[in-house]
Amino acid sequence: MKNKIRIAIDGPSGAGKSTIAKRVAKELGIDYIDTGAMYRAVAYKVLHNQIDLNDVESIKKMLSETNIDFINGNIILDDEIINDKIRTHEISRMASDVSALQVVRDKLVALQRKMGQHKSVVMDGRDIGTNVLIDAEYKFFVTATASERARRRWLELLEKDEKVDLKQVEADIIDRDNNDSMRELNPLRKAEDAIELDTTGMTIEEVTDEILEVIKWQS
Ligand code: DC
Repeated sequence: MKNKIRIAIDGPSGAGKSTIAKRVAKELGIDYIDTGAMYRAVAYKVLHNQIDLNDVESIKKMLSETNIDFINGNIILDDEIINDKIRTHEISRMASDVSALQVVRDKLVALQRKMGQHKSVVMDGRDIGTNVLIDAEYKFFVTATASERARRRWLELLEKDEKVDLKQVEADIIDRDNNDSMRELNPLRKAEDAIELDTTGMTIEEVTDEILEVIKWQS
Protein backbone atom coordinates (compact mmCIF):
# COMPACT_ATOMS: atom_id res chain seq x y z
CA MET A 1 0.00 0.00 0.00
CA LYS A 2 1.17 3.57 -0.66
CA ASN A 3 2.83 5.37 2.28
CA LYS A 4 -0.03 7.75 2.89
CA ILE A 5 -3.49 7.31 1.48
CA ARG A 6 -6.47 9.56 1.77
CA ILE A 7 -9.79 8.04 0.84
CA ALA A 8 -12.75 10.34 0.19
CA ILE A 9 -16.25 8.89 0.40
CA ASP A 10 -19.08 11.25 -0.54
CA GLY A 11 -22.76 10.75 -1.15
CA PRO A 12 -26.28 11.66 -0.03
CA SER A 13 -27.85 11.03 3.39
CA GLY A 14 -28.55 7.44 4.28
CA ALA A 15 -26.40 5.89 1.53
CA GLY A 16 -24.44 3.98 4.20
CA LYS A 17 -21.29 6.10 3.86
CA SER A 18 -20.30 6.17 7.52
CA THR A 19 -20.74 2.43 8.12
CA ILE A 20 -18.78 1.70 4.95
CA ALA A 21 -16.08 4.30 5.72
CA LYS A 22 -15.66 2.97 9.27
CA ARG A 23 -15.20 -0.58 7.97
CA VAL A 24 -12.74 0.44 5.27
CA ALA A 25 -10.70 2.39 7.85
CA LYS A 26 -10.69 -0.55 10.25
CA GLU A 27 -9.67 -2.98 7.54
CA LEU A 28 -6.77 -0.74 6.47
CA GLY A 29 -5.85 0.23 10.06
CA ILE A 30 -6.17 3.97 9.43
CA ASP A 31 -8.23 6.80 10.97
CA TYR A 32 -11.83 7.50 10.09
CA ILE A 33 -13.16 11.05 10.07
CA ASP A 34 -16.91 11.58 9.96
CA THR A 35 -17.26 15.15 8.67
CA GLY A 36 -21.06 15.02 8.92
CA ALA A 37 -20.62 14.53 12.68
CA MET A 38 -18.64 17.79 12.74
CA TYR A 39 -21.53 19.72 11.17
CA ARG A 40 -23.85 17.98 13.60
CA ALA A 41 -21.61 19.05 16.52
CA VAL A 42 -21.86 22.69 15.41
CA ALA A 43 -25.64 22.31 15.05
CA TYR A 44 -25.80 20.85 18.58
CA LYS A 45 -23.90 23.80 20.02
CA VAL A 46 -25.94 26.37 18.07
CA LEU A 47 -29.13 24.77 19.37
CA HIS A 48 -27.93 24.62 22.98
CA ASN A 49 -26.75 28.21 22.95
CA GLN A 50 -29.99 29.25 21.24
CA ILE A 51 -28.14 31.15 18.56
CA ASP A 52 -30.12 32.47 15.61
CA LEU A 53 -28.77 31.12 12.30
CA ASN A 54 -28.98 34.63 10.82
CA ASP A 55 -26.73 36.01 13.56
CA VAL A 56 -23.41 35.44 11.79
CA GLU A 57 -21.36 37.38 14.36
CA SER A 58 -22.56 35.21 17.26
CA ILE A 59 -21.91 32.05 15.23
CA LYS A 60 -18.41 33.31 14.43
CA LYS A 61 -17.74 33.99 18.10
CA MET A 62 -19.11 30.58 19.08
CA LEU A 63 -16.90 28.85 16.49
CA SER A 64 -13.80 30.64 17.77
CA GLU A 65 -14.49 29.04 21.16
CA THR A 66 -15.26 25.57 19.76
CA ASN A 67 -13.11 22.45 19.78
CA ILE A 68 -14.07 19.37 17.79
CA ASP A 69 -12.01 16.20 17.81
CA PHE A 70 -12.23 12.44 17.25
CA ILE A 71 -10.70 10.31 20.01
CA ASN A 72 -10.98 6.52 20.09
CA GLY A 73 -13.95 6.58 17.75
CA ASN A 74 -15.78 9.19 19.84
CA ILE A 75 -16.70 12.65 18.68
CA ILE A 76 -15.72 15.22 21.27
CA LEU A 77 -17.17 18.71 21.41
CA ASP A 78 -15.39 20.93 23.96
CA ASP A 79 -14.52 17.92 26.21
CA GLU A 80 -18.02 16.39 25.97
CA ILE A 81 -18.64 13.07 24.19
CA ILE A 82 -21.64 13.74 21.96
CA ASN A 83 -21.89 10.51 19.88
CA ASP A 84 -25.58 9.75 20.41
CA LYS A 85 -26.74 13.28 21.19
CA ILE A 86 -26.16 14.38 17.59
CA ARG A 87 -28.14 11.53 16.00
CA THR A 88 -31.60 13.05 16.49
CA HIS A 89 -34.04 14.20 13.86
CA GLU A 90 -33.78 17.81 15.09
CA ILE A 91 -29.97 17.86 14.81
CA SER A 92 -30.11 16.29 11.33
CA ARG A 93 -32.25 19.14 10.10
CA MET A 94 -30.19 21.80 11.88
CA ALA A 95 -26.89 20.31 10.61
CA SER A 96 -28.12 20.61 7.05
CA ASP A 97 -28.93 24.30 7.69
CA VAL A 98 -25.65 25.19 9.47
CA SER A 99 -23.66 23.40 6.77
CA ALA A 100 -24.88 26.00 4.25
CA LEU A 101 -23.21 28.84 6.19
CA GLN A 102 -19.88 30.15 4.92
CA VAL A 103 -18.42 30.78 8.41
CA VAL A 104 -19.17 27.22 9.46
CA ARG A 105 -17.73 25.65 6.30
CA ASP A 106 -14.58 27.79 6.47
CA LYS A 107 -13.86 26.62 10.00
CA LEU A 108 -14.71 22.93 9.50
CA VAL A 109 -13.05 22.51 6.10
CA ALA A 110 -9.80 23.97 7.51
CA LEU A 111 -10.01 21.56 10.44
CA GLN A 112 -10.72 18.60 8.13
CA ARG A 113 -7.78 19.44 5.87
CA LYS A 114 -5.52 19.58 8.91
CA MET A 115 -6.79 16.18 10.05
CA GLY A 116 -5.88 14.66 6.69
CA GLN A 117 -2.56 16.43 6.30
CA HIS A 118 -0.01 14.10 7.86
CA LYS A 119 -1.68 10.73 8.09
CA SER A 120 -3.76 8.23 6.17
CA VAL A 121 -7.48 8.75 6.58
CA VAL A 122 -10.87 7.72 5.35
CA MET A 123 -13.07 10.80 5.35
CA ASP A 124 -16.75 10.79 4.49
CA GLY A 125 -19.10 13.67 3.75
CA ARG A 126 -20.51 15.65 0.84
CA ASP A 127 -17.56 17.69 -0.46
CA ILE A 128 -14.49 15.64 0.44
CA GLY A 129 -13.54 14.66 -3.11
CA THR A 130 -14.56 18.00 -4.63
CA ASN A 131 -13.18 20.38 -2.01
CA VAL A 132 -11.66 19.14 1.28
CA LEU A 133 -9.21 16.55 -0.04
CA ILE A 134 -9.18 17.43 -3.70
CA ASP A 135 -5.97 15.42 -4.26
CA ALA A 136 -7.13 12.35 -2.32
CA GLU A 137 -5.61 9.13 -3.68
CA TYR A 138 -9.04 7.45 -3.83
CA LYS A 139 -12.47 8.98 -4.28
CA PHE A 140 -15.81 7.22 -4.11
CA PHE A 141 -19.34 8.52 -4.58
CA VAL A 142 -21.78 6.23 -2.82
CA THR A 143 -25.47 6.46 -3.73
CA ALA A 144 -28.71 4.49 -3.49
CA THR A 145 -32.26 5.32 -4.51
CA ALA A 146 -34.17 7.59 -2.11
CA SER A 147 -36.63 4.79 -1.28
CA GLU A 148 -33.81 2.35 -0.47
CA ARG A 149 -32.07 4.95 1.72
CA ALA A 150 -35.36 5.72 3.47
CA ARG A 151 -35.98 2.02 4.10
CA ARG A 152 -32.51 1.60 5.65
CA ARG A 153 -32.94 4.67 7.89
CA TRP A 154 -36.44 3.51 8.89
CA LEU A 155 -35.09 0.08 9.92
CA GLU A 156 -32.34 1.78 11.96
CA LEU A 157 -34.93 3.92 13.74
CA LEU A 158 -37.12 0.86 14.38
CA GLU A 159 -34.15 -0.84 16.04
CA LYS A 160 -33.87 2.18 18.31
CA ASP A 161 -37.57 1.78 19.07
CA GLU A 162 -38.43 4.99 17.25
CA LYS A 163 -41.62 4.33 15.34
CA VAL A 164 -41.86 6.65 12.37
CA ASP A 165 -43.74 6.56 9.11
CA LEU A 166 -41.63 5.23 6.21
CA LYS A 167 -43.16 7.78 3.81
CA GLN A 168 -42.21 10.58 6.20
CA VAL A 169 -38.61 9.30 6.41
CA GLU A 170 -38.45 9.25 2.62
CA ALA A 171 -39.86 12.79 2.38
CA ASP A 172 -37.22 13.99 4.91
CA ILE A 173 -34.43 12.31 2.95
CA ILE A 174 -35.54 13.93 -0.32
CA ASP A 175 -35.80 17.28 1.45
CA ARG A 176 -32.26 16.98 2.85
CA ASP A 177 -30.93 15.85 -0.56
CA ASN A 178 -32.34 19.05 -2.04
CA ASN A 179 -30.94 21.18 0.76
CA ASP A 180 -27.46 19.62 0.48
CA SER A 181 -27.22 19.60 -3.30
CA MET A 182 -28.86 22.94 -4.11
CA ARG A 183 -26.85 25.07 -1.69
CA GLU A 184 -24.38 27.50 -3.13
CA LEU A 185 -21.30 26.51 -1.12
CA ASN A 186 -19.66 23.17 -1.93
CA PRO A 187 -22.89 21.32 -2.65
CA LEU A 188 -23.16 17.56 -2.73
CA ARG A 189 -21.63 16.59 -6.07
CA LYS A 190 -19.66 13.68 -7.48
CA ALA A 191 -16.02 14.58 -8.17
CA GLU A 192 -15.13 13.96 -11.82
CA ASP A 193 -12.45 11.48 -10.77
CA ALA A 194 -14.61 9.66 -8.20
CA ILE A 195 -15.80 6.10 -8.70
CA GLU A 196 -19.59 5.95 -8.37
CA LEU A 197 -21.11 3.01 -6.50
CA ASP A 198 -24.87 2.54 -6.54
CA THR A 199 -25.45 0.47 -3.41
CA THR A 200 -29.16 -0.20 -4.04
CA GLY A 201 -29.70 -3.88 -3.32
CA MET A 202 -26.14 -4.35 -2.03
CA THR A 203 -25.09 -5.16 1.52
CA ILE A 204 -22.61 -3.05 3.47
CA GLU A 205 -20.12 -5.93 3.24
CA GLU A 206 -20.39 -6.05 -0.55
CA VAL A 207 -19.79 -2.31 -0.89
CA THR A 208 -16.86 -2.38 1.56
CA ASP A 209 -15.29 -5.28 -0.34
CA GLU A 210 -15.70 -3.46 -3.64
CA ILE A 211 -13.92 -0.37 -2.28
CA LEU A 212 -11.11 -2.45 -0.76
CA GLU A 213 -10.74 -4.27 -4.05
CA VAL A 214 -10.23 -0.97 -5.92
CA ILE A 215 -7.67 0.19 -3.35
CA LYS A 216 -5.70 -3.06 -3.44
CA TRP A 217 -5.89 -3.20 -7.20
CA GLN A 218 -4.55 0.33 -7.62
CA SER A 219 -1.92 0.21 -4.87
O1 DC B 1 -23.63 12.85 6.87
P1 DC B 1 -24.56 13.52 7.89
O2 DC B 1 -26.01 13.24 7.66
O3 DC B 1 -24.15 13.21 9.29
O4 DC B 1 -24.33 15.09 7.65
C1 DC B 1 -25.04 16.07 8.36
C2 DC B 1 -25.24 17.30 7.48
O5 DC B 1 -23.98 17.95 7.26
C3 DC B 1 -25.82 17.01 6.11
O6 DC B 1 -27.09 17.63 5.97
C4 DC B 1 -24.88 17.62 5.11
C5 DC B 1 -23.83 18.32 5.90
N1 DC B 1 -22.47 17.96 5.45
C6 DC B 1 -21.84 18.80 4.58
O7 DC B 1 -22.42 19.79 4.15
N2 DC B 1 -20.56 18.55 4.20
C7 DC B 1 -19.92 17.47 4.66
N3 DC B 1 -18.66 17.25 4.28
C8 DC B 1 -20.57 16.57 5.54
C9 DC B 1 -21.86 16.84 5.92
